[in-house]
Amino acid sequence: MTSSAQLSNQATTIADCPPLLRARGIVKSFGGIRAVQGVDFDVAPGEITGLVGPNGSGKSTLLSCLSRDIAMDSGSILFNGADISKMRAMEAARSGMGRTFQNVRIFPEMSVWENALMGRQWKGVGLRGLLSSADDDTRRRATDLIELMRFPQLAHEYAGNLSGGQKRLLELVMAMMSRPKLVMLDEATSGVNPTLIESLKQYVMGLNRDEGVAFIIVEHNIGFIFSVADRIVVLDSGKILADGSPDEIRQNQEVIGAYLGA
Ligand SMILES: Nc1ncnc2c1ncn2[C@@H]1O[C@H](COP(=O)(O)OP(=O)(O)OP(=O)(O)O)[C@@H](O)[C@H]1O
Ligand SMILES: [Mg+2]
Repeated sequence: MTSSAQLSNQATTIADCPPLLRARGIVKSFGGIRAVQGVDFDVAPGEITGLVGPNGSGKSTLLSCLSRDIAMDSGSILFNGADISKMRAMEAARSGMGRTFQNVRIFPEMSVWENALMGRQWKGVGLRGLLSSADDDTRRRATDLIELMRFPQLAHEYAGNLSGGQKRLLELVMAMMSRPKLVMLDEATSGVNPTLIESLKQYVMGLNRDEGVAFIIVEHNIGFIFSVADRIVVLDSGKILADGSPDEIRQNQEVIGAYLGA
């Protein structure tokens, strides 16, 4: 028999940690369309979770429920020890969540540098105040992230002039400004060229390793997600079809039939 003392001596794995995010019974319909139908979803601290599934399976809607960008019909979300089920997106972001969107959301008529400053969580200052009120720590963070993404020469370029892939990286910079514990990326590699996809992979893995950031990454690029994720969740018609390690998912006949074999 294994004693509790022996158990506590065993190596701690991601699965043993109390979850950073615990979502239960998430339901969201749009009129008659049942986009998310009772999803339970946990993310451990520092875990990279891939969220995959066919078009229209509810991936973006689930992210928007978790980030509080849209109201759920029912369900509960604990994040970082707090009940965020009824919070607005801005409050959820302040509690340590960052996200990017399927349709990139940046400020095209602002510079890369100004966009980075816009990414921090702010309160009580208008748009102009936001840029002028950035303290040294915020400016250093923006500089560091822009350098990390190898953007320094583009810092004063209008964001609208960036390539599709660079815009997605800029969105990641913005999401990282407030040092979140969890970042959700929706269609991270869509419209990104193969070289930048490799860079994106290195940034995600670097931020995960160096800052302990957990990620939920919605992806259609199966090669990318299987190479970067610790765990893959497969959504189908608003429900979880499978949840496991990349190896387990690769061997899951139901997933292969419903999705990967397609
Ligand atoms: N704002 C909305 N109003 C009405 N229906 C919506 C809305 N957003 C999503 N839906 C519907 O909800 C379902 C799930 O959509 P969702 O965008 O979450 O899927 P997805 O898995 O992200 O798909 P994709 O891979 O194409 O991005 C779809 O049937 C979609 O048409
Ligand atoms: Mg989507």
